[in-house]
Amino acid sequence: MLLEGVHPAAALALRAAGVEVESISGALEGDALIDAIASADLVGIRSRTRLDAATLAAAPSLAAIGCFCIGTNQVDIEAAANQGLPVFNSPFGNTRSVAELTLAEIVLLLRGVVDRSADLHRGLWTKSASGSHEVRGRVLGIVGYGHIGSQLSVLAESLGMQVIFFDIDHKLPLGNAVAVGSLDELLERSDVVSLHVPETPRTRGMIGAAELARMKRGAILVNNARGSLVDLAAAADALRRGHLRGMAADVFPQEPEANGPGFECPLVGVPGTLLTPHIGGSTEEAQESIGRDVAEKLLRFILGGSSRGAVNVPEVDLPRRADDRHRILHFHRNVPGVLGRMHTMLAARGINIHAEYLQSDFERSYVILDVDASDAAMVQADLASIPETLRVRLIC
Ligand code: NAI
Repeated sequence: MLLEGVHPAAALALRAAGVEVESISGALEGDALIDAIASADLVGIRSRTRLDAATLAAAPSLAAIGCFCIGTNQVDIEAAANQGLPVFNSPFGNTRSVAELTLAEIVLLLRGVVDRSADLHRGLWTKSASGSHEVRGRVLGIVGYGHIGSQLSVLAESLGMQVIFFDIDHKLPLGNAVAVGSLDELLERSDVVSLHVPETPRTRGMIGAAELARMKRGAILVNNARGSLVDLAAAADALRRGHLRGMAADVFPQEPEANGPGFECPLVGVPGTLLTPHIGGSTEEAQESIGRDVAEKLLRFILGGSSRGAVNVPEVDLPRRADDRHRILHFHRNVPGVLGRMHTMLAARGINIHAEYLQSDFERSYVILDVDASDAAMVQADLASIPETLRVRLIC
């Protein structure tokens, strides 16, 4: 069951593997959602469908959840894990889209295009080279050298920018990029500062009045990461005073739930700002790439048991199952003795174990056993009777 108009690439991949697919273009809630997923083996959603504990409990045949997006906040992933339901997402399906938009914004802001364009829309001709710069040779400071930051680094260097970056982890610099030791150093040295960190207690409010003051006069700030990172009132003030030359923001502390009028933030109407409605990752290419990525993860799990890429259960990856063997997928509470009981039950039925793959986290374990082909219903009932079992499934 695919909801919210998941890209058709997902349905194509799933159908090609023999999965029956139903698609709905919108999000569902309440009883309509429960009815839609009550008999589904897999559900695919984007960011607007809430899968809470009660909804998941009402979908007994569900085996896995695909979030065809980056975040998984819309799902109660703990409740899902307690039901042995892996949740998959696509953490870098839209990385390139964000990096491209960021680079384009840097070019436009360094050329003063935002205000020139606004002038012309008002009928005002303002041709001038003053304060307009090529990006070539300018210093780009990237905060957070992860998927997006490092992609941006490569693209920016190809236009001749000098890249420096700051990351709390040790990261391999790509091309000629150079890591700097502190955020302050990066702010002081950069002509353009671009933020690509997640929201954490440490990054919330990481750019306030003091940090803006450290930036070079005439520098540019880009925040296409998370709305809570920048004090927008302080940024608006720095822009109005001309301390900052320009700013691009794609994310905001309060973002409207739906399209329409009524958006407010301190940057509205401030010259030299490029505002976009959280579309950094929103391209057709990204949607297609996410569609394929999550569909593949769901298929690897449903057909072979691999939980690689799951955000809430231990990750187990394993080779293909031999045709003459059965594969047991068993999620259980991580307490001593469960594996021993499984082995004893199988031995009592004369079933030989050919391979065993196990991963655990603090609370839960996921074990996959390749065993002699046997009476699957009987084995399933045996293993389900172990009190610590969260879910057991056989692939025959
Ligand atoms: P990532 O997890 O690959 O990279 C984040 C990097 O930030 C990591 O290298 C991490 O070590 C570093 N980091 C964490 N805390 C830090 C700190 N206090 N100081 C310096 N570095 C720190 O994440 P990815 O995929 O590159 O995404 C980056 C941001 O972009 C996230 O906030 C994400 O939510 C946002 N994003 C925005 C989109 C949009 O539509 N505008 C679309 C996709 C992602």
